Amino acid sequence: MEIDVFTLFPRWFEWFQTQRHVVNALDGGHRLGYVSYRDHTPLSAGQVDDTPFGGGVGMVLRVDVVDAALRAHYGCEGADVARERRVIALSAGGRLLDDGLVSELAAEPRLTLLCGRYEGFDERVVEHLATDSVSIGRYVLAGGELAAMVLCDAVLRKLPGVLGDEASAVEESWSAALEGAPEYPHYTRPAEYRGWRVPEVLLSGHHERIRQWRREQSRRRAAPGSG
Ligand SMILES: C[S@@+](CC[C@H](N)C(=O)[O-])C[C@H]1O[C@@H](n2cnc3c(N)ncnc32)[C@H](O)[C@@H]1O
Repeated sequence: MEIDVFTLFPRWFEWFQTQRHVVNALDGGHRLGYVSYRDHTPLSAGQVDDTPFGGGVGMVLRVDVVDAALRAHYGCEGADVARERRVIALSAGGRLLDDGLVSELAAEPRLTLLCGRYEGFDERVVEHLATDSVSIGRYVLAGGELAAMVLCDAVLRKLPGVLGDEASAVEESWSAALEGAPEYPHYTRPAEYRGWRVPEVLLSGHHERIRQWRREQSRRRAAPGSG
């Protein structure tokens, strides 16, 4: 998979690139690239934003700036990039990122992530340059960089060979294997600590009973009001 992240702050991703599963992904032939809007802005003095039409506080990331960065990087019209690959505008009000959408994106050969800043994108970015508008949660971050890292993290760990143990990405919270429910609880040694005991069934060695107990715990956590 090839992921390009368009951002005003490429250096934010330096730490992300050093994380184990990201390193595994890169070693396995996947690619993460970063493009700075500022490096390609057609405006003077590195300008990338402007005041909103209609008034109001804050600045808006300009459509011509995002378009120029896409054109410079892909060598075609910005609007044509979205015909070749999913172009995702990270937006607080977008489609909520969940396990289903992560799996869908993990099946794509190429992704482009557009990080917003300030008051967000000129809406024409979302309408004409992007294929998707995705939110990582119902709250507002200062910029799309952390959202891009969250999306990349969730997508990369779905790719074969990226996690140390393939099985750990199969039976997880929200996965089809757990019928979309939260994962069951885990315990490790010591079996008793300060009087807090591990459930007996997990020490029984009885695989079928353990499997049933875990499924039951997972379903219980999915029940309304359990949360
Ligand atoms: C300060 S936010 C803009 C918020 C916008 N004015 C609103 O009310 O929806 C700046 C940028 O951060 C990113 N961002 C903020 N919250 C996000 C979220 N929950 N999910 C994805 N991206 C987010 C987006 O790229 C957005 O353009």
